[in-house]
Amino acid sequence: MAALLELANISKRFGGVVVADGISLMVERGAAVGIVGPNGAGKTTLFGVISGDVRPDGGSVVFDGARINRLDPGARCRLGIGRTYQVPKPFERMNVFENVLIAAQQGGRQRGASSHGRAIASLERCGLAERANRNAGSLGLLDRKRLELARALATGPRLLLLDEVAGGLTEPEVRDLVAVVRSIRDEGTAVIWIEHVVRALLDAVERLLCLSGGTFIADGEPRQVLESAAVREVYLGTDELAIEGIA
Ligand SMILES: Nc1ncnc2c1ncn2[C@@H]1O[C@H](COP(=O)(O)OP(=O)(O)O)[C@@H](O)[C@H]1O
Ligand SMILES: [Mg+2]
Repeated sequence: MAALLELANISKRFGGVVVADGISLMVERGAAVGIVGPNGAGKTTLFGVISGDVRPDGGSVVFDGARINRLDPGARCRLGIGRTYQVPKPFERMNVFENVLIAAQQGGRQRGASSHGRAIASLERCGLAERANRNAGSLGLLDRKRLELARALATGPRLLLLDEVAGGLTEPEVRDLVAVVRSIRDEGTAVIWIEHVVRALLDAVERLLCLSGGTFIADGEPRQVLESAAVREVYLGTDELAIEGIA
């Protein structure tokens, strides 16, 4: 069976800045993959290429055996690609439940629960049930991140793209989040998680990639990747990634 996601030779530049220089990546069904890389490396842009928010200059995006380069984000969402945004983008004037309901209605056709039921299940799963009637614009950072996750989940993804959902959270909050991500993965949903909070990744993924200079400079078992000379070198002199103390 074909891989769930297959990126082949993706290239993208913004003016003179090359953010993707022939990136290829295969992600199997149900896999849990982490991505690290310095700020500005192009991680969020790569998610945009997968979700359809960013058009690559070259290369192909294949999902579940079909080339999807020409599909818009809505069509990709219906096929089963769900994502969160690094900067949460809720409909500020709608309440939390309405935000998640819209996502449930936009997602792929799913058997079983109605979109209403799926919205409620996603809220409960992300710890937002008690805030269902709150205005989304009034939420603090943690709840905004939870709402991003609840919206992505409500679309019923087969591939979930998480963009820095753990940043700024306390240790217990990170633990809760990891538990939610693990339960999503355990149901067979593939996850790609961009995250600087390495301890969260180590508890949730079985494979880690490091993006730098427009390509993946490391790909493999998470601890080995973090300890590799190539990865240590790109983080040298920065405190972006708490690698020390991990080994
Ligand atoms: N829409 C855009 N227009 C111009 N430059 C962009 C755009 N989006 C991202 N960039 C630039 O591309 C580089 C990679 O950005 P991004 O993908 O957000 O990196 P990361 O998520 O790894 O921090 C940065 O230099 C950023 O300023
Ligand atoms: Mg980013």
